[in-house]
Amino acid sequence: MNEKSRIVILISGRGSNMRAICEACKMGRINGEVVKVISNRADAGGLDYVKNENIPYEVISNRDFKSREDFDAALVEAVEKASPDLICLAGFMRILTSVFVKPFEGKILNIHPSLLPKYKGLDTHQRAIEAGDSEAGASVHIVTDELDDGPVITQTKVTIEKSDTASSLSAKVLAVEHETYIRAICKLLN
Ligand code: GRF
Repeated sequence: MNEKSRIVILISGRGSNMRAICEACKMGRINGEVVKVISNRADAGGLDYVKNENIPYEVISNRDFKSREDFDAALVEAVEKASPDLICLAGFMRILTSVFVKPFEGKILNIHPSLLPKYKGLDTHQRAIEAGDSEAGASVHIVTDELDDGPVITQTKVTIEKSDTASSLSAKVLAVEHETYIRAICKLLN
């Protein structure tokens, strides 16, 4: 079997996608190991899991830096120390500049709760409902320095029902996000 890929995950909050990736690695569904988790928020819920599982983690608060570029430079340093083969953004709520994206070009994945290229940015579910769409979904794409841009690796669709609200649709999409992310990682690592 090939050597396991080294995965670094960046989070800002709940971390359910991060957890799904960690568990898929543990179960051998992903031929990888999560070698580090970085959060820009000390109160990110996902850190509880990371601490319990003894996964190395670091908090780097964007508030400690004067500019996006300075924060991104600190992030590069922290990520480089872990020598990653793959970097997964999982609910990481910061816009990254080329200071971060350039050194890891082609190695950064992000999950976005829409059928890209539709609805980049925030409020994806509300926007899909307001547009009268019949389908929504989740996309995993390679990160470039354009927000929610870059080649899509895989997508999963869900049906929007007339009764759906932004919150019910968000739950429906989240339910398919975890498997979508795992599938994308396996595809990229292969
Ligand atoms: C997910 O909906 C993801 O698509 C978006 O942020 C949310 C993160 O959820 N980028 P979690 O922290 O992984 O639970």
